[in-house]
Amino acid sequence: MKLNNLAALMLASIVLLSCNTTKEEKKLKSKVTSKETNEGYTLFKNNCYACHSVISKSHDEIIAPPMVAVKRRYKMAYNSKEEFVKAVVAWASDPKEDNALMRGAVNQFKVMPKQLFKKEDLIKIAGYIYDNEIEQPAWFKSHFNTMHPNGMGGKKGMKMNN
Ligand code: HEC
Repeated sequence: MKLNNLAALMLASIVLLSCNTTKEEKKLKSKVTSKETNEGYTLFKNNCYACHSVISKSHDEIIAPPMVAVKRRYKMAYNSKEEFVKAVVAWASDPKEDNALMRGAVNQFKVMPKQLFKKEDLIKIAGYIYDNEIEQPAWFKSHFNTMHPNGMGGKKGMKMNN
């Protein structure tokens, strides 16, 4: 192999290698965030899905509102992630009927039972709920639009279109 061919080859592999490292770095970075997300999701599923599940077939068989409905209600009341997380953590640590935002749900299901959750877990769960699209049961969209034909609180634009 001629010398300048060899040089070209080396140059090419250097370029390729450096290209690879940036790709690796990117992969690593996205792994960190998806690891957090995975942790939040696992905690959420293990601690909350027993009641706030999405696998119910109809509105009649549920024992608590789906988390997507809770999220919608809490996002209406709290504007920032910080406030949202604080409110969800406070609620789940000590649910009291007087503090409930979801009056209809309390009437229908009774107030959420007090359970022992770790505060650090609740913070991760609430952050996960805020940041991620929460699965909704198949029946939820039509139920929501029937119950709130003019959108939430009569405000247009809160109606679910998708
Ligand atoms: C044993 C069943 C059960 C489990 C487990 C459960 N919930 Fe609930 N949750 C309920 C019921 C029932 C309601 C509806 C009545 C109410 O609002 O209190 C509710 C309502 C809520 C509300 C709305 C409260 C309001 O303002 O009215 C939030 C927020 C909430 N749950 C968060 C959570 C989180 C976070 C978890 C997991 C860490 C969780 N729940 C686990 C039964 C449960």
